[in-house]
Amino acid sequence: MTFKHIKTLDTSKDFILPCKKGELDTVKAFLPIQQPDFDGSFASYQLIYGSEGNRIYLLGLGEDKHAPQIEETFRNLCFNTKKHWDKSIQVYAENLNTDSIRKAVIGLEMAEYNIGAFKSEKEKLSQKTIAFASSKSIMKHLEEGLYTGETINSIKALVDAPPNIKTPEYLGKWASKSSKNANYKCTVLKEKELKKQGFDAVLSVGRGSVNKPVVIINEYKGKETKKTDIVLVGKGITFDSGGLSIKPATNLHYMKSDMGGAAAVLGVVELIAKLKLNINVTGIVCSAENAVDAESYRPGDVINSYSGKTIEIIDTDAEGRLCLADGISYAVKKIKPNYLIDLATLTGSVVRTLGYSAAGMFTNNDDMAQSMSNIGTKVHERVWRLPMYEDYEEDLHSDVADLRNFSGKPIAGAINAAKFLEAFTEEHPNWLHLDIAGVAFGSSSYAKMKSASGYGVQLITEFIKEKISK
Ligand code: BES
Ligand code: ZN
Ligand code: ZN
Repeated sequence: MTFKHIKTLDTSKDFILPCKKGELDTVKAFLPIQQPDFDGSFASYQLIYGSEGNRIYLLGLGEDKHAPQIEETFRNLCFNTKKHWDKSIQVYAENLNTDSIRKAVIGLEMAEYNIGAFKSEKEKLSQKTIAFASSKSIMKHLEEGLYTGETINSIKALVDAPPNIKTPEYLGKWASKSSKNANYKCTVLKEKELKKQGFDAVLSVGRGSVNKPVVIINEYKGKETKKTDIVLVGKGITFDSGGLSIKPATNLHYMKSDMGGAAAVLGVVELIAKLKLNINVTGIVCSAENAVDAESYRPGDVINSYSGKTIEIIDTDAEGRLCLADGISYAVKKIKPNYLIDLATLTGSVVRTLGYSAAGMFTNNDDMAQSMSNIGTKVHERVWRLPMYEDYEEDLHSDVADLRNFSGKPIAGAINAAKFLEAFTEEHPNWLHLDIAGVAFGSSSYAKMKSASGYGVQLITEFIKEKISK
C-alpha cells in the first residue's frame, strides 16, 4: 500500500470519513444525506454514495476509551471493503490527531496481511494508494505508520509460518536479510559456536531435533556511544512438542507459535532501525526446536548453562526458561545494558491467569512496571503485573543441582518461571519479563483458526522511544 498526503479532500471521489460516536455533526458537511443509519460505534462502518456515484465510507471510531484501538477500525473496514475500492481512496484526516493518523496507517497496512502465504493459488496484491487529507504536516507520521504496519505484518507471517519451514536456521536467515534491508548488524551463532561459547541450556533443549539451535544477536547502533541502552531477549522455540515430557495432541499444531517472543524482538530491532531512533539496542533470540528423539534431553538430566549454574530438568516442556536463561546471562555478562527486557510465550499458567487480554509482567522495578503498563494501555498491547515475592524462591531449589527448571507443583506456574529467569539476571536493577503466551497468538476476525497478533512490536518500540526522550 502507498500512503500520501493531500491538503484537501476531493468530495467527488471515494473517501473514508472517520467519525466518533454521536459526533456525526462534525462531518455533516461531507454527507449527501441528512440522517445516515450510523452512530459512530466502535469499528462499525456504513457505505453511502455521493452525488457523483462515489463511495463514502462512514467509519465509527467509538468513544474516547477506544482511542488506543483505532488501528482496528481502519483494518476492519479496509479488510472487508477494499475489493470494491478503486486504485486510490482518500481519508478525511482533519479531525484526527497525528497519533491517530499514524495508527490509521498501521491498521490499513495490517489489512494487507495475507494469512494464506502457503496456498498454491496466490492472492493478488491490491496496491492501493491512500491519500490522507489534512492541513497539518503529517508525512513523518504516515511513514512511521507504514514501517510499523509492514513490520507487524512480517512478524505475523513468521509466527504463522509452519514449523517445518520456520526452523531456527530460518529465523537466523530472516534476521540476516532484515539486517541488510534495515541496516543493522546481525550475527547468527550456530551449533559449533554455541558449544564453544557455552550456551549449554539452549543446546540441551535443541538436542532432540535435526534442526539445530541458533542464537541470533541483532545490534542496532543509533548513537556514537558504545554503551548498549537496551537488550531485548526473545524465546524462539520454533515448535514445542514438550520433548520427552510430551504435550497432549489437542492443539499441538499451535505450538508453532512458541517463537512469538523472538518474533517481537526481531520486529522491534527492524522497526527502530527503519525509524533510525537515536538509541543503541541489541536483540537476542535463543532459538531451538523442542523435539522427541533418542538424543533428546530428559527429565532427571542435570545440564549446564551459559551462566555456569547447573540445572536439574524436572520437565522438558519447561524449555523456554532454559533458552532465555542463556540469553539473559549473555546479556548481563557480555553486553551489560541499562535495560534488560525479555519476551516469551513462556507458560500455560499465564493464559489461565490473564486469558487473552494482557501479558504477564514481572519486574522488581516499579518505574519500569508503571511505564510499561501506561504504554501497554496506550497502544492496546496490555500488561498486568504479577508478584515476584521471595516466598516463591524455595520452589527453585534442587537437591542435586543449583536450580531445577520446574517446581513440580500445579500452582503459580508463570511466577515460578519468572523466578527461574530472575536467577540468571545477576540482580540487574532494570530487568523486566513479559510472559506473552496468551497474547502472541489467538482468534481474530480475519482467520478461522488462531493466528499471530503481532503483540509486542508497538509496546516495546514505544518503551524505547520513551527512553530516548528522557
Ligand atoms: N510453550 C509453552 C507455554 C505455552 C502454553 C505457550 C500455551 C502458548 C500457549 C511452554 O514451553 C510450556 O510448555 N510451559 C509449561 C511449563 C510446565 C511444564 C512447567 C506450562 O506452562 O504448562
Ligand atoms: Zn514447553
Ligand atoms: Zn514452550
